[in-house]
Amino acid sequence: MIYTLISPLDMHLHLRDEAMLKVVAPLSAHSFSGAIVMPNVVPPITTIEAVIAYKERIVHAIGNNVFEPLMTLFFRDDYSREFLEKAALHVKALKLYPSGITTNSEAGVASMDIEVLRPVLEAMSDLGLILCVHGETNGFVMDREKEFGSIYESLASAFPKLKIVMEHITTKESVALLDTYENLYATITLHHLLITLDDVAGGMLQPHLFCKPIAKRYEDRDALLHVSLKAHPKVMFGSDSAPHPIHKKECCGCAAGVFTAPLALQALTELFEKHNKLANLQAFVSDNAQRIYGYKPLYKEVKLIKAPFCVPSSYDNVIPMFASQTLAWSIEHVL
Ligand code: DOR
Ligand code: ZN
Repeated sequence: MIYTLISPLDMHLHLRDEAMLKVVAPLSAHSFSGAIVMPNVVPPITTIEAVIAYKERIVHAIGNNVFEPLMTLFFRDDYSREFLEKAALHVKALKLYPSGITTNSEAGVASMDIEVLRPVLEAMSDLGLILCVHGETNGFVMDREKEFGSIYESLASAFPKLKIVMEHITTKESVALLDTYENLYATITLHHLLITLDDVAGGMLQPHLFCKPIAKRYEDRDALLHVSLKAHPKVMFGSDSAPHPIHKKECCGCAAGVFTAPLALQALTELFEKHNKLANLQAFVSDNAQRIYGYKPLYKEVKLIKAPFCVPSSYDNVIPMFASQTLAWSIEHVL
């Protein structure tokens, strides 16, 4: 059995920098046609010069693969309109992190007060720049995303022309917001479609499944599956593939992030086939994103075949999800 995807896109990806970039960038670039690249490197991407230089390092790291890195800026509330006008020539989106909420987010916003954010959000709205948000408060870990819901609602009503992407949603409440506000969209990861908190911490602690936002309850996973499998027009695949070296995962003080980029399309195909929804996978991994971002990707054909794929035990010093396990689908070739 064969299934072909055209120009798959990963709308939320961490490529890191330096040695790690050289390991992970070719893996995404092999099977995806493009990706929204997160700016939470060290230091975060906050200038146009940094965007251009980071993009050059990515393009160098991917070699001959057909792949377009779609760059983002790290959101700051003190950017000027003039700066954003120039930035709009180089980035599709700005990524907003509440300060300290996750990996390398210390330079994020200290306050989600709309009046503080207004000048930047108004300029973004006028310029057609997309706002990508890590939507968690610093409350109880299982409630952080749900508590952020009212902030999404305020942002969506205050800036009705601004496209807001709720990144890596994990709750049924976030899913419900999609049908309430015209300008709210969402990315959904592979791992949040497959696991719950039980898989992370219900038995022996699984550091390679630990991420932010943390996987939630069964009913939350069901809600995510429901909108993904039907390729709800406002959801897009975004892996949030977030590599950390093994010594930062298997230690006291485990870093958050699940590394899925090299197996994401194979596992998604297995999942959609299992639910008899293969016909919707193309929209979930590319067509919806093209429409939402107003983006025409580079042409790429990824031919998947129903044949076992043994996920490597590691990629250099990074342990992937499903390490040493076998998936039902593999990538036969990429054109
Ligand atoms: O698990 C996560 N890892 N969540 C994030 O929001 C950031 C990411 C990372 O950069 O490692
Ligand atoms: Zn992320």
